[in-house]
Amino acid sequence: MHTYRSAASIAVFCAAGLFMALGCKSLPPSKPESQWTPQEARGAVVYKSGCARCHYPTTTQGLNGPGLQAITKVPAMPSGAPPTDERLVNVIVHGRNMMPGTQLDSQQMQDLLAYLHTL
Ligand code: HEC
Repeated sequence: MHTYRSAASIAVFCAAGLFMALGCKSLPPSKPESQWTPQEARGAVVYKSGCARCHYPTTTQGLNGPGLQAITKVPAMPSGAPPTDERLVNVIVHGRNMMPGTQLDSQQMQDLLAYLHTL
């Protein structure tokens, strides 16, 4: 529980942009749009319609939820859980706290995961 809380407060600090200069921004860069595969591009469409209103894709700054830059590359997501595909699918399907679940067919889910890996 302690780990969860400290990970969450670090995420809040990053989201508020307070400690950007201290390293919150030292994340690996996202794959540029010009290099997306067709699947990643389809995933971006799914993201725009189902996720973008709450999550910025290219920063860790918060919107209605945490920014998802490098979400699959960080050791732990804001909740403290590692960003495995299994965990991502679980959060996307079932939601988490203030995040609602999103209904996607399996093709959309695979495309969305491919896109999330570009962030
Ligand atoms: C209505 C706003 C909303 C929508 C739509 C939404 N989310 Fe979220 N999301 C949130 C909030 C709020 C949290 C923080 C939940 C928490 O840990 O309390 C969150 C958390 C997350 C996390 C971090 C989970 C963790 O374990 O820390 C991921 C990844 C995520 N969302 C991905 C997505 C994806 C992908 C979509 C689109 C399918 C999506 N979200 C749609 C609001 C939203």
